[in-house]
Amino acid sequence: MKQFNNTTMSRPFIMVVFGGTGDLARNKLFPALFSLYKQKKLPEQFFIVGFARRDLNDEKFREVTQKALDRGSTPRGVEPLMRLFLEHVSYQQGFFDNRVAYEQLIERLNTFDKKLGACITRFFYLATPPDHYEVILDHLSQTKLSEGCGHPSTGTSAMSSVPNGSGQHKWTRLIIEKPFGKDLNTARMLDKKIAQIFEEKQIFRVDHYLGKETVQNILTFRFANGIFEPVWNKNYIDHVQITWAEKKGIEGRGAFFDGVGILRDVAQNHLMQLIASVAMEQPKSFSKEAVRDVRADAIRAIRCIDPEDVAKLVVRGQYNGYQAEKNVTKNSNTETFTAMKLFIDTPRFENVPFYVRAGKKMPKDEVLISIVFIQTCHILFKEYGCPEEGNVLTIRIQPDEGIGVRFIAKKPGAKLSLGTVDMKFSYQDEFDGKGADAYEKVLLDIFAGDQMLFNRSDELESSWEFITKILEGWKSQKLEVRSYEPGTWGPKDAEELIKKDGRKWL
Ligand code: BG6
Repeated sequence: MKQFNNTTMSRPFIMVVFGGTGDLARNKLFPALFSLYKQKKLPEQFFIVGFARRDLNDEKFREVTQKALDRGSTPRGVEPLMRLFLEHVSYQQGFFDNRVAYEQLIERLNTFDKKLGACITRFFYLATPPDHYEVILDHLSQTKLSEGCGHPSTGTSAMSSVPNGSGQHKWTRLIIEKPFGKDLNTARMLDKKIAQIFEEKQIFRVDHYLGKETVQNILTFRFANGIFEPVWNKNYIDHVQITWAEKKGIEGRGAFFDGVGILRDVAQNHLMQLIASVAMEQPKSFSKEAVRDVRADAIRAIRCIDPEDVAKLVVRGQYNGYQAEKNVTKNSNTETFTAMKLFIDTPRFENVPFYVRAGKKMPKDEVLISIVFIQTCHILFKEYGCPEEGNVLTIRIQPDEGIGVRFIAKKPGAKLSLGTVDMKFSYQDEFDGKGADAYEKVLLDIFAGDQMLFNRSDELESSWEFITKILEGWKSQKLEVRSYEPGTWGPKDAEELIKKDGRKWL
């Protein structure tokens, strides 16, 4: 399985991080890059350039980056290593619409090439809010930065190239973060623009949930074990629940979040991928396209909700206090919580409801998939305490990564009495840890040119089709957000959504 084998980057590289001072760069990217560095998974020669608006120079940017790294769980004693890592980091100040800044960037990148005497592969990482993507892409194209240093391949060790159809080599890759667009239309336009500048092989559309060990393991769990596949269908499964909960609020990200909302920030991408991991068919092989094919098929099979049914099937909530957050507009109608009931139109999951919820300011941090099986507790046992639900298989994406099965057992004692018990597998206990961080995996796969765990246009298009119908429903039906208290599981309607089907959130 190729996807598990991208473990180091041996060739020199340049990574330009647009939005280098932003939340994503500070909290996820730089910590992941530094962690790879500490594990000796980066090459000897690499250059990371932060590109952002703030008026900083190389030294000041290194200080900012160091602070971000210090905030992580860096143990004492690695400071010299951090200093060495920071020597690979520099800064290009510039507004994203200022051509001069890009020209300065070109000069800087050329000095790296000169230093090594080769065309070094350039990764352009768009880690900015999505409003900036277009202007950055335009400048990458107009300045020909998108084409890299432009020399033909000489096969030196500094090079890692993507041959295109005409036998030329491409020296650049584009890495683009979610949300990819704001709705179906803008996603299509963005995709078209990118396709005019880069070839598909150069494009990495990131959804870091695909890089999580626990999400990757679902495929193994389902298809490498013979005992689950026979019951993984409508004949045995009553319903599926997916919970994505974060204790924190928007944490100063108002400028980004208020224009996006949880539906676009989390549901359109992370939730869709979790649904796909449960619903997909077995891939024909573990090749990049075979895995992406089954993922795309599963997302395409999610039945779109008619705008008129949105009020019935989708809950839209906002935590009290959200409107007082920094950079949030007054009377904002942006949702920080959503819950929905949906169906997958495949023979395997016909008429099996999926109840899905995602929210900020929830009672705890938890990402969880529960497969609830049909209750088949034999009639003979009814009077001895058959539980309401059937067996439950729980896949804990985070924290306490692992898998559990709830089943019925006889309680010890002379009298027959039943109770439910849990059988648990824990990554921490079994494997002494939970594996690579998702962003480390994302980066290693980008370095290796392995796109299996990155979104393909068609899966994004299908997920946007689904999400856009909900957005249209909220708009056309003039549905306002319902408020909820921080630390609760969203507005009451979320309970109602599942309760009216005679079920409850687990
Ligand atoms: C990001 C969202 O994609 O995922 C954030 O934009 C969210 O709102 C984050 O907090 C959660 O990621 P993780 O890996 O901590 O679950």
